[in-house]
Amino acid sequence: MTTMPASSRRPRVEVVIDLDAIRHNVGILAGRAAASGATTMVVVKADGYGHGAIDVAEAALQAGASALGVCSVEEALALRHGGIDAPVLAWLRAPGEDLAAGIAAAVELGVYSTGQLDTVAAAAAATGITARVHLKVDTGLNRGGAGPDQWPALVRAAVATCGIEVVAIWSHLAHADDPGHPIIEQQVRYFDEAYQVARDAGLRPLRHLANSAATLTRPDLHYDLVRPGIAVYGLSPVPGVSYHLLPAMSLRSQVAMTKRVPAGEGVSYGHVWHTDRETTLALVPAGYADGVPRVLTGRLDVWLAGRRRPVVGRVCMDQVMVDCGDDAITPGAEVIFFGSGDGGAPTAAEWADKLGTIHYEIVAGMARPRVTRTVHGRRPIGAGFTGTLVTR
Ligand SMILES: Cc1ncc(COP(=O)(O)O)c(C=O)c1O
Repeated sequence: MTTMPASSRRPRVEVVIDLDAIRHNVGILAGRAAASGATTMVVVKADGYGHGAIDVAEAALQAGASALGVCSVEEALALRHGGIDAPVLAWLRAPGEDLAAGIAAAVELGVYSTGQLDTVAAAAAATGITARVHLKVDTGLNRGGAGPDQWPALVRAAVATCGIEVVAIWSHLAHADDPGHPIIEQQVRYFDEAYQVARDAGLRPLRHLANSAATLTRPDLHYDLVRPGIAVYGLSPVPGVSYHLLPAMSLRSQVAMTKRVPAGEGVSYGHVWHTDRETTLALVPAGYADGVPRVLTGRLDVWLAGRRRPVVGRVCMDQVMVDCGDDAITPGAEVIFFGSGDGGAPTAAEWADKLGTIHYEIVAGMARPRVTRTVHGRRPIGAGFTGTLVTR
């Protein structure tokens, strides 16, 4: 019997998550927030931007975060079922959500309108538990939230409605990745005015506004709490600036076989690429069904045996071919499609640039049924942990 090399027992394709990188990044972000007297809510929506919400939540809480932010009650309940008891804000309301289950599980709720407030109050009454809400003011993103015309009515209704506790008011920036953009100042002015309306109505809510970009570039906008997402995952929120963040996700495979091919041969479907010399081609068993975009045919490099090498010919559903020249490449050799970028290896940001999108979409889209997720750096969360949203 031939013994398989240990490396070939690795998954065919894997998304590898480095929780130590998450801890490192949260340490940077929470440190910046703490310097302004703010706490940190780490955003773990969309299964932690594709990194695994529960793993990321645990690592983030260990590294200095005190709360978690998600989109839906469903995502918040998944954290609770995963054993996370830190404060969780579910900020986007959608029809048909099980608000009562969220309130019973101490999930805090974003509220954008008096209609939503009524729905939350009804769910609170049904459970007999006061709902903790974060009122959203739309300061200019023109997405969700109460605009200037509706804000005073929302505040008055929140004060007057039984079973509602207003924890915070919050908003979201349209141009945070461009720290000097004048719209930011306009949004901040509206936000401060909205806060004054809340205070005049007798509320003393916390305030939160900053995403990753504002957390890193605008300490004056930290208020009581920051809400970083993308930077937690080690991806820069401001193009071209690193902030010493460490990318936490890499997409990896391994060489399945190699072959020498003479000059002048067409490679892969349609023969859109031909060898211009005799060369060694490595077959890597990862393709577009594994998240390697077919549209990157002819524009993709991988990191293999210590250097970048071009993927040649069409990206197929299950495999790609890599041109290795005259180098000796052994089956089982690791192949990195994107990752930390160390040594000049490809990154998710590079893929995003080539695809005309943002790195958020690359990592959040990597959860696929046949791609294994391998997590490094798990540490059990300390018994008795109690997170708190309120610092004062
Ligand atoms: C309301 C809200 N806050 C914070 C974030 C985190 O933003 P970022 O990933 O840019 O830090 C998001 C992400 O889209 C969001 O929707």
